[in-house]
Amino acid sequence: MTLIINNQGLELRFLFLLFFIILYAHAKTPYQMGKTLYMEKGCYSCHGNNAEGMHVYPKLANRAKGFLTYKLSRFRDKISDNQQQEMMIAFAMGLSDADIDNLTTFLYEFVEEKNGMKYDDSHKGEGDGGS
Ligand code: HEC
Repeated sequence: MTLIINNQGLELRFLFLLFFIILYAHAKTPYQMGKTLYMEKGCYSCHGNNAEGMHVYPKLANRAKGFLTYKLSRFRDKISDNQQQEMMIAFAMGLSDADIDNLTTFLYEFVEEKNGMKYDDSHKGEGDGGS
């Protein structure tokens, strides 16, 4: 009986080890975690799929990490510098320090993925009958 319990304990430890190995293998980089957050939190819907900005929504790609961190932390503290920015407070409120760090790493290091996140509109129409 004792032997069986010991064996089970060993199995359990093995399973835990396996679990952490799998977890480690799937561990994402801050860039990838930031990218996931950017999509999950809906940031893309205003700032664009490539963080390129649109209309009144500022471009975020490749901008200083320090500045982006400063702005997001302030929005989280419900501080905006103008009325337009008040929109951001709701989106920053739920972010943890780690979330902000991952998001700003992603934005600062942003590399556009061709045919990945972006619709490829580089195709040139041919033979459309115009002469
Ligand atoms: C509903 C639209 C909307 C969504 C969604 C949104 N934002 Fe914004 N964001 C804005 C607006 C509006 C501003 C302020 C523009 C201005 O200063 O005139 C802004 C400003 C910012 C700024 C400051 C940029 C600057 O130049 O001052 C950062 C950083 C930012 N947003 C990050 C994010 C992140 C990260 C998310 C997702 C968690 C997000 N935003 C989601 C609308 C949005």
